[in-house]
Amino acid sequence: MQKLRVELGERSYSIVMDSNILSGLGRALERFEFSRKVALVSNPTVYGLFGKEITESLKGSGFDLLEVIIPDGEKYKSLSSAEMIYGELLKAKLDRRSCLIALGGGVIGDLTGYAASTYMRGIDFIQVPTTLLAQVDSSVGGKTGVNHSLGKNMIGTFWQPRLVWIDISTLKTLPPREFCSGLAEVIKYGVIWDREFFNMLEASREKILALDEVTLIEVIRRSCEIKAEVVSQDERESGLRAILNYGHTVGHAVETLTGYTRYLHGEAVAIGMHAAARLSNVLGLMDEKQVLRIKALIEACGLPTEVPANIRDEDVLSAMQLDKKTVSGTLRFVLPEKIGSVRIQADIRAEEIIKAIRD
Ligand code: NAD
Ligand code: GLY
Repeated sequence: MQKLRVELGERSYSIVMDSNILSGLGRALERFEFSRKVALVSNPTVYGLFGKEITESLKGSGFDLLEVIIPDGEKYKSLSSAEMIYGELLKAKLDRRSCLIALGGGVIGDLTGYAASTYMRGIDFIQVPTTLLAQVDSSVGGKTGVNHSLGKNMIGTFWQPRLVWIDISTLKTLPPREFCSGLAEVIKYGVIWDREFFNMLEASREKILALDEVTLIEVIRRSCEIKAEVVSQDERESGLRAILNYGHTVGHAVETLTGYTRYLHGEAVAIGMHAAARLSNVLGLMDEKQVLRIKALIEACGLPTEVPANIRDEDVLSAMQLDKKTVSGTLRFVLPEKIGSVRIQADIRAEEIIKAIRD
């Protein structure tokens, strides 16, 4: 079993990872000071696959378990779903020392974390991520939230989990497209932080795509380590944490302009990472050879790299302006200087952005 710490003073927590560890969750939670009443939040897809194992484990450790099942889909990452969760918790009389357990991908994790952060002014929660994206990104770092009809992730909190419990065996049932979407965030860590890790991803891509367990553990562990290191230095994104948004500026614009239906989150980020790498090259920050390596690894992981031709340049520019990462109208791009290191740059001319996207 591998264990990492996210160092955040009194809000520090462990990330535990291995294969076939879902049944060990109950035992792991016994050492916490939660009250006996806990709630498992999941969706029918994930609950159908792993619900029995987890509920048996929790009940076996003496927990009095409430199950809250939210329909599957991004549109249920909403205030109405949060309200539904609050109602179930209140009816079952969960108290301030109760704990929520999020079993699912980023949608369930973000929603459960948000509900936990607001129920009775904040109760504990545990992340049990079951998608690659959630295991390497969304379950770590404490960003929680729901969508608003006027914008994705616009309502949220910073609320750290007490434990992240990663069972890599859950990835066996994940649709390949969802798996590849998670790989985009993995590649991101290589580009922003760790050249050696990027080299390892290039060399091991076949093993990764074949879900080789030893390689997967190595990849998920290093991704979580990098995220933990960044978050420990800048929990609330006042500086460094913004580098985790590499690829997200153009990525979010592409997601918005395609109505969140054409691309999965990681796919849009993949397009954005390639666009940002090219922008670095247009600005003379990074040589073309490294842009091509980034592009090749993204493609080898089954991910797209180009902004669709039917999206207008001016629409990409205006969608980026509406992004919540834009402060006082200033767009900030996370730009690689070389594989393994990035800088944040504002004041980039529209022509340069378009050249990078369309070259
Ligand atoms: P998701 O939660 O919608 O899961 C994708 C699909 O896979 C769903 O249909 C789900 O039911 C299914 N699924 C989950 N685990 C499975 C398994 N093991 N086997 C089979 N099917 C399984 O999507 P996601 O990509 O995990 O997360 C996307 C969300 O994460 C978005 O809302 C995004 O905004 C959020 N996010 C948050 C952060 C953060 O820091 N909080 C970071 C990145 C993304
Ligand atoms: N996913 C970006 C962050 O957690 O900051």
